[in-house]
Amino acid sequence: MPSLAARMSRAKPSAIMAVAEKAKRLKAEGRDIISFSIGVPNFLPGEHVYQAVRDALAKDSGQYGSNRGPDALLDAFIAHLEGSGLSGYGRKNIATGIGAKHVLYNLAEALLDPGDVIVFPTPYWTTYVDIADIVGAQTRLLPCPATQNYKLTPAQLDAALPGAKVFLFNNPSNPTGMVYSKDEIAALADVLARHPDVWIVCDDIYNRMVFDGIGYHNFVNARPELRDRTILVDSLSKTYGMPGWRVGFVAGPETVAQAVVTLNSNHITNVPEIVNAAAIAALSGPQDVPTAKNAEFAAKRDTVMAALEAIPGVVCPRPQGAFYVFPDISCAFGKSYQGRLIANDVDFCNVLLETKGVACVPGSAFGEPRALRISYTCPTPQLAPGMQRIQEFFAELR
Ligand SMILES: Cc1ncc(COP(=O)(O)O)c(C=O)c1O
Repeated sequence: MPSLAARMSRAKPSAIMAVAEKAKRLKAEGRDIISFSIGVPNFLPGEHVYQAVRDALAKDSGQYGSNRGPDALLDAFIAHLEGSGLSGYGRKNIATGIGAKHVLYNLAEALLDPGDVIVFPTPYWTTYVDIADIVGAQTRLLPCPATQNYKLTPAQLDAALPGAKVFLFNNPSNPTGMVYSKDEIAALADVLARHPDVWIVCDDIYNRMVFDGIGYHNFVNARPELRDRTILVDSLSKTYGMPGWRVGFVAGPETVAQAVVTLNSNHITNVPEIVNAAAIAALSGPQDVPTAKNAEFAAKRDTVMAALEAIPGVVCPRPQGAFYVFPDISCAFGKSYQGRLIANDVDFCNVLLETKGVACVPGSAFGEPRALRISYTCPTPQLAPGMQRIQEFFAELR
């Protein structure tokens, strides 16, 4: 049989999906499973989104659409950016894609040649490594453990950027939920300004999910001169409860947006018109669903943190955004649960799922094997019982 392309030996299926699949299987077998594994919002968009889709269906021509995205969607996204304090973007600076994942993949193809260096902090969103591997880029990972609040320091960044082509930054973070303050962003922006040959890609898809009044801040506002090499990635998946609609955006220099449009023209042609209608309605319609969900997520974060803080040995920086908590659970390593050794995060998550019916994602999927990720988008009534099972699990370790 002929062989697959060499790059496929570097491509791995998502570790997060593997846990979700196992939890689903156990549930199908009749087990009482509480899933903290997958990062999908547990709400649907408002009725106005569905109405826009019905209206679009009535008018649908069935034709191909624009490779960049329809003007009305570009304009709605530009207004959305302005709502986040980012002004001055025109249609030529924007392109759309099939979710942020596809946009990030397009950017990797547009910016990175084989062997080029891409720098990003660890813990990272799993897909970053996989996309870099597929395009043959070299990853330079910057360890940001719980002891430094999972945050990148200016000194780390400064030391890592020489020779790099791309710096990839995710704020608020998946998997840690950490959010950089205005001062922290300004300090990193000062470093970035000293390295003019590096593209800055900001995966800011959780930028509307920020708690405690700290706000969302970005390099472009901190240092306007960074704008001509800063690329913002956004998505409707999390904020609007629309992960399956698959709409992502890029905003940046005209050449970069145009590169994404060119790749679209060869990969996908266009995001479907019906989906575009939903996206326009979500961005420009009432924002009460996302706002209400933000308050709910902040309260759920508090529930998770209170439970974790009561477990001796667990260390967990307090997240201020997204819907993830990322405790360091390495105090459990070397212990046993009902005779089964917990040697690492994968053992921990497997034994926890099989015995207590709680699904979490091992931290090694995010480059931090001392931790696990709890995604707290489950229905609220499941949250406290799920956390109680985790507490019991720790208490029963020997
Ligand atoms: C940090 C981060 N970036 C990008 C994505 C991809 O989002 P989308 O659904 O828009 O492809 C995710 C999804 O979990 C994510 O957590």
